[in-house]
Amino acid sequence: MSDFDTIYDRRKTNSLKWDVLKKDLPMWVADMDFRTAPEIIDAIKEKADFGILGYGIIPDEWHQSIINWWKKRHDFQMESEWITFCTGVVPAISSIVRKLTTVGENILIQTPVYNIFFNSIINNGRNVIESPLQYIDGIYEVNFEELEKQLSNPQTTLMIICNPHNPVGKIWEKEILEKIGELCYKHHVLVISDEIHCDLTDPGYQYTPFASVSEKCKDNSITCIAPTKSFNLAGLQTAAVVIPNENIRHKVVRGLNTDEIAEPNSFAIEGTIAAFTKGEAWLDDLRTYLLSNKMYAIDFISKELPQVNVTFSHATYLLWINCNSLIGNSTEMCQFIREYNGLYLSEGSIYGKAGEGFVRMNIACPMELLKDGMKRFKDGVLAYEEWVLRKC
Ligand SMILES: Cc1ncc(COP(=O)(O)O)c(C=O)c1O
Repeated sequence: MSDFDTIYDRRKTNSLKWDVLKKDLPMWVADMDFRTAPEIIDAIKEKADFGILGYGIIPDEWHQSIINWWKKRHDFQMESEWITFCTGVVPAISSIVRKLTTVGENILIQTPVYNIFFNSIINNGRNVIESPLQYIDGIYEVNFEELEKQLSNPQTTLMIICNPHNPVGKIWEKEILEKIGELCYKHHVLVISDEIHCDLTDPGYQYTPFASVSEKCKDNSITCIAPTKSFNLAGLQTAAVVIPNENIRHKVVRGLNTDEIAEPNSFAIEGTIAAFTKGEAWLDDLRTYLLSNKMYAIDFISKELPQVNVTFSHATYLLWINCNSLIGNSTEMCQFIREYNGLYLSEGSIYGKAGEGFVRMNIACPMELLKDGMKRFKDGVLAYEEWVLRKC
């Protein structure tokens, strides 16, 4: 079993997550407090030890490592020419938005959703169209009636789906993806499927690649994948864009090149190949560890804080916690808790209007930190409610 229990001091490592006060405990940005797989560290060390860090190429081995991984782990056969390197999923999405839509067009997202999707749309002068997911008894569903109305607007040209979905942790069923693909095809809306969280499912659970669902899905989609979430390599800046349709691919590849985001740094290729060829055992250990963290947190919350509910989910290491039954306001509560005892959570409202009343908690940390985090969460929530009542 790999080691996920050791606590490392990340404060002095220029970490975004840990750029906080000494008393703080960050459980916000999607970045894990574990060292990556030893095989990846060795590959990066070997390159660093060689010491010549000139411009790189993208070798066939890189394509092959991705093809083999998706075939073996996700039962999806990709072809080498479909896959293009990119320095990140977000850079790819922003570039695709610029290349394949025009200013003033509508881009549809299913909220609550990864907050940076909003930036990629708004910063490029396109309109965000929110298709709120329906929250029914703790489970999120697509409102297809509303979705079709929004897709049928000729001004809507692109939909970005998050598969599995951050922050709600949902693994989309094949039938749901197929229906989305059908509607997008019918209304001439291109699909970006952001699958960066796809390897972080609970043991025994599988995601479905959007492009694998049907010919229409395959022909009308761009899939963004990366080893960075699953292997904790966000700072390595490495991702891949997968596009079966040759015409769409041509345009996107031109866009990625124009934006100068199609070339790797000195460690991106070696790190990715090591992850997808040697990282499997480590990843499966990680998924087991994350599940036990998730179970601990859910159990703690149901016993100690029954007034909040964790959303039922089988993917990601992010807990999406419904705080609507609490007194007060969850955004204010996050700020209060941060000041009160240093626990740093993500406010649900940053994921769109549909996220109001929720908080997101990153539980990818050693169990000891998680226990500390849960205690701070409980103390913080109770202190906040008391504070609100005193104010009234
Ligand atoms: C859904 C989703 N897409 C993309 C990213 C970031 O991707 P990258 O670091 O490759 O730009 C994240 C990071 O949390 C994410 O959750």
